[in-house]
Amino acid sequence: MDDMRIIRAKDYNDMSRIAANIIAAQITLKPDSVLGLATGSTPIGAYKELIKKYNEGNLDFSEVRSVNLDEYKGLTKDNDQSYDYFMKENLFNHVNIKAENCHIPNGIAEDDEAECRRYDEILEKNPRDLQLLGLGLNGHIGFNEPNDHFAKGTHLIQLTESTIEANSRFFESYEATPKAAFTMGIKSIMQAGKILLCVSGKSKAQILRDLIHGPITPQVPASILQLHNDVIVVADEDALSLM
Ligand code: GLP
Repeated sequence: MDDMRIIRAKDYNDMSRIAANIIAAQITLKPDSVLGLATGSTPIGAYKELIKKYNEGNLDFSEVRSVNLDEYKGLTKDNDQSYDYFMKENLFNHVNIKAENCHIPNGIAEDDEAECRRYDEILEKNPRDLQLLGLGLNGHIGFNEPNDHFAKGTHLIQLTESTIEANSRFFESYEATPKAAFTMGIKSIMQAGKILLCVSGKSKAQILRDLIHGPITPQVPASILQLHNDVIVVADEDALSLM
């Protein structure tokens, strides 16, 4: 497990601060970095820290390019629950990243297959220097749900009950929660030069342990990260409580 560095953070804020420092170092060392970005509640604190560094004049996003992991099927960009909206709200609108340099799957694409191929081409043109990841309760990364195989490229995925349930906290009801999403594939995630996985909270303790110490299996999609040679896990004490 030499390739997986685990950084123990005190709590969510500490995790966010450390993650932001790593991302900031990446941008400082390589101003035209390609960042793979993630949504969910986990990275919000890190994005806040990055905005702070930008406002203090310590960070420049003008040459940064970004590709996001996933997007709900059926949500328009102006829907406040779309991941497009989330990224603008939580990061892009507050720093000097160029809109044309930010990529995210189009949730309302008419042709699913064509949208997946379009996104794969974007990924090919934008090899990620650093991929930021959160962790789903069932071990999903992006929206790569537990499965009998590891998906390679961008695909449309039917979300599992547990994920729909978890995401429903942001929607009016379970029924109103999207049941499908476009997601980057596992192979694309693994192609990033460096992976930064952020995990916070007791509810993630068991799955974090499985991903680090369990067998590598598509039933725990994040377990594939054991095979990547440059993974940094920043996890808080609650998330590491079973280790
Ligand atoms: C969603 C996102 C993932 C995210 C996961 C965990 O399903 N597609 O990218 O990592 O939720 O979310 P949270 O950080 O809110 O626990």
